[in-house]
Amino acid sequence: MKFVGSKNRLCKYIIPIIQEIIDDSNCDGYLEVCVGGANVIDKINHNNKIGSDIHKELIALLNYIKILNNPLPTTITEEEYKQVKNNKNNYPNWYIGLVGFCATYGSRYFQGFARGFKADKITPRDIPNEGIRNIEKQRKNLTDVKFYCKNFNEYTNEEINNYVIYCDIPYRSTKRYPEQPKFNYEEFYA
Ligand SMILES: C[S@@+](CC[C@H](N)C(=O)[O-])C[C@H]1O[C@@H](n2cnc3c(N)ncnc32)[C@H](O)[C@@H]1O
Repeated sequence: MKFVGSKNRLCKYIIPIIQEIIDDSNCDGYLEVCVGGANVIDKINHNNKIGSDIHKELIALLNYIKILNNPLPTTITEEEYKQVKNNKNNYPNWYIGLVGFCATYGSRYFQGFARGFKADKITPRDIPNEGIRNIEKQRKNLTDVKFYCKNFNEYTNEEINNYVIYCDIPYRSTKRYPEQPKFNYEEFYA
C-alpha cells in the first residue's frame, strides 16, 4: 500500500536481513509494532505474523483487505472524498481508511484530494485508482497476518517472548496525523 514512510523500495535490503534472523532463530513469531502500509510484513515468511499500529482506520482497512472477497471500489471521486472526510460517522472505519490513504497525494491521510498529471503533463492521473490497484496487488500477501490496533508499548514480555520484532517508527521530522498522540521517543528507546 502506498504509505508515508513506506519501506517498499528498501525491502530488497531489509527483507533478507530480517528473514535470515527469523530462519536462524527458530522464533515463535514475527511482530511489527508500527506496521503502516504493511509493506514489509507482506514479504516476510513465518507462520505467526502480527502487525499492529496505533491508527485505527488503517488497521480496519488492513483487516478488511486481507479477506480477498471483500470488494473494493475502483476509484474515489473528489466529491466522495469530501463526503467521507466531513461525515466520518456515516462510514465504516475500513472505508474511511481507504479514502483517507488512497485518495490523497502521497497517501497523506485526508491532507487534500490527490490530483496529478501523467508524464505528458496533459493527461490527468487517477491517483485513487492507482492506490487501490496497489492494494489489490498486495492483499493476497496479507491473508495470514493478524492485525491489531495497539500502541507499541501495549505488549507484555510474555506475549512477545522469542519473537523477532521490527520497529519502523515515525521519523522525528514526519508530520503526525492530527488525531494521533505524539510519538513518545524517550519511552520507545528506553
Ligand atoms: C514509518 S510508518 C511505517 C511504514 C511501514 N513500515 C511501511 O513500509 O509501510 C510508521 C507507523 O507508525 C505508526 N505509529 C505512530 N505512533 C505509533 C505508536 N505509538 N504505536 C504504534 N504505531 C504508531 C503510524 O501510524 C505509522 O503507520
